[in-house]
Amino acid sequence: MKIAITGTGGRVGAALAAYFSRRGDVVIELNRQAMDLRDLSSLPPILGACDFDVLINPAALSSPDDCEKNPGLAYLVNTQAPAAMAECCARRGKQFIHFSTDYVFGGEMPIRPNESDETLPVNVYGRSKRDGEIAALQACPEALVMRVSWVFGAEKPAFVEQIAQKIIAGHELEAVADKWSIPTWMTDLCEWTGLLSDEKISGIVHACHGGEPVSWHGLAVAVQELLENRGLIPERRAIAAKLLRDIDAFIARRPVHTAMDNARLCSLLPTPAASWCEALGQWFAGSHFSLRG
Ligand SMILES: NC(=O)c1ccc[n+]([C@@H]2O[C@H](COP(=O)([O-])OP(=O)(O)OC[C@H]3O[C@@H](n4cnc5c(N)ncnc54)[C@H](OP(=O)(O)O)[C@@H]3O)[C@@H](O)[C@H]2O)c1
Repeated sequence: MKIAITGTGGRVGAALAAYFSRRGDVVIELNRQAMDLRDLSSLPPILGACDFDVLINPAALSSPDDCEKNPGLAYLVNTQAPAAMAECCARRGKQFIHFSTDYVFGGEMPIRPNESDETLPVNVYGRSKRDGEIAALQACPEALVMRVSWVFGAEKPAFVEQIAQKIIAGHELEAVADKWSIPTWMTDLCEWTGLLSDEKISGIVHACHGGEPVSWHGLAVAVQELLENRGLIPERRAIAAKLLRDIDAFIARRPVHTAMDNARLCSLLPTPAASWCEALGQWFAGSHFSLRG
């Protein structure tokens, strides 16, 4: 298959490009230099000149605070560009896979929403992504929208890798304890994307692991336990529990409970998705990331 992928300089896009290349697909990297999503009028001719079977769009303005500071740019990149890409795919009969986020949910209650539950985003990032989902599916009803949460184990470090390095380095430790979701291992996310693409699945899928929702603080504790069990640190240390309201750097409001129900994903996989704890353990046990040095 010929797979065109946007955002290949980003966390998810880079991992997807590597995964599909390893699988033997032809990967066409549509990074910012090849296709700037802010330039809407350039998208149809660029995509028209590109020979692909599947277009995957993980590119986004992905920082909630950047979106809050620049809502116009957020709507351009996260809403209008996916709509334009979806329209191009629909016109040419190509498959479109769009990445979205657990932040489309308002997160007021710990209810594990499924794909048909109401979305009530609380910030510009969430609203621009939710509107991007709707616009993409309107333009291309056969599109697949994969909502993901708290990705770890990619080339570009995320919370798990950063806290692991801080624990090993003996730094002061703190993490937010009043916001919960489900961490997702990039290796499994790539496999799920490949499988759902092969099966031509459409509509929204919550692409996350199972298990109990965890806070960043709980995730930091889990990472510390794994490091101790592998003999990478001499002992566990206290991790200060911070509250969202203590984090002055956050400009955008954060939704609190965004762990999603992954029953639809599990029904589409040959074996149900693992819990995030199992996935974290597998990632630690594997050679995907060296925690030494
Ligand atoms: N990572 C997570 O934990 C997580 C959680 C929930 C949802 N998601 C969703 O998953 C998707 C991928 O996230 P990510 O973590 O990979 O994000 P990321 O690391 O921030 O990467 C975003 C990518 O989008 C590209 N991009 C931004 N503006 C662009 C523009 N105007 N034109 C072309 N490319 C542009 C960036 O290009 P440059 O490299 O040139 O800047 C970058 O490669 C996003 O839809 C995000 O909303 C991610």
